[in-house]
Amino acid sequence: MEKKFEKEECDEEFKKKEYFGGYSKEVMDRFMDPKNVGEIENPDGRGRVGNPACGDILQLHIKIGRENGKEIIKDVKFKTLGCAAALATSDMVADLAKGKTLDEARKISRDDVAEALGNLPKIKMHCSNLASDALKKAIDDYRKKKE
Ligand code: FES
Repeated sequence: MEKKFEKEECDEEFKKKEYFGGYSKEVMDRFMDPKNVGEIENPDGRGRVGNPACGDILQLHIKIGRENGKEIIKDVKFKTLGCAAALATSDMVADLAKGKTLDEARKISRDDVAEALGNLPKIKMHCSNLASDALKKAIDDYRKKKE
């Protein structure tokens, strides 16, 4: 039989992890308190993707900087209209991308994102594609504008 929690117990379990549909503590922390939500004024690249299956939408902005003569992702901000996993994966992709070269950032895969989050329930793996696809689009948008 499924265990039922009183509110205080629930809060404690919530802090510990994994009572919310198999989400890890990292997913829940980022869902509850994402650090990279927002927009960048005059972004260098924009990516927008939607998941037709669930209707979720994600917009992602990047700012490019230079380090050791190479272009790097200096900042990432996103807005997600979606599920907990979409929000957490967006926030994680933003952190994973910062400081990376454009080619490195373009290689961030959904497995990289899931692993960094302490894994995602299988049924939610597709959500991590949304963020990494938006990042790729933003990088491509930047490169296209430079041409
Ligand atoms: S259910 Fe739509 S991205 Fe998660």
